[in-house]
Amino acid sequence: MNKIMNMTMALALALSTHALAENTAANVANGQEIAAGVCAGCHSADGNSIIPANPSLAGQHAEYITKQLIEFKMPDEETPAIRNSPVMSAMVAALSVDDMKDLAAFYEQQTPTTGISTETDENVLELGRIIYHGGNIENEVPACASCHSPDGAGIPPHYPRLAGQHADYTFAQLNAFNEETRTNDNRVMKQVILRMSPREKKAVSEYISGLE
Ligand code: HEC
Ligand code: HEC
Repeated sequence: MNKIMNMTMALALALSTHALAENTAANVANGQEIAAGVCAGCHSADGNSIIPANPSLAGQHAEYITKQLIEFKMPDEETPAIRNSPVMSAMVAALSVDDMKDLAAFYEQQTPTTGISTETDENVLELGRIIYHGGNIENEVPACASCHSPDGAGIPPHYPRLAGQHADYTFAQLNAFNEETRTNDNRVMKQVILRMSPREKKAVSEYISGLE
């Protein structure tokens, strides 16, 4: 008798945990609808942006996307957001956190393509490859691969996917971390790039756009 009771309780518990997971699961269809109506003009319908200044979102980790959308929000009309982008602040102003999670789940499911890069100089790409995988010991620049993984797929939830991102966008973000218009990373990335030369930043950005 006791044994049956225990089994029933275990089953009931399993079912209720399952129901909880279902309830909190993101609504991808809602995400897709908002994406098509509001975001596609700049990030494309499938999240593979065709404009180098606008990041691709396809295949990016959902947790990371949600975090960014929350952090684009300005605390009030005068105070800049910890990720300061006037364009994106306007975009997220009307979104609820549930909408953000739905959008993030939709983009995570899209298949990423390779990014836009105009670099053809093999020496630049080779410099980028060396920094990405080995850093620059002389200037205390750590290897990007140690946090963003060797293939650029990132490590969820904290380390974003970089592979195939447009070189112009990546380069702009490295400068944003440096100039502290983007401080939503607890200054981790600022420490990483503090001693990088502009040439190294450019080279690693170009190399990343070719990763898949
Ligand atoms: C008018 C063009 C435009 C529209 C429309 C737009 N975005 Fe963006 N988005 C940008 C730009 C530009 C950036 C880069 C911001 C920066 O400099 O940090 C960006 C950045 C982002 C990022 C950060 C990506 C990363 O890798 O960190 C996310 C996430 C994002 N947008 C999601 C959305 C969503 C969701 C919508 C629709 C609700 C949307 N965007 C609508 C232009 C746009
Ligand atoms: C110690 C770990 C660590 C190392 C090493 C590291 N990163 Fe990061 N990086 C992070 C974290 C954490 C974030 C996410 C910040 C956030 O939540 O917005 C990030 C974000 C980024 C972003 C923003 C991505 C986007 O879509 O906007 C870029 C670009 C980037 N890193 C490039 C690099 C490059 C290039 C290197 C090597 C020179 C590097 N990172 C090394 C931890 C690291």
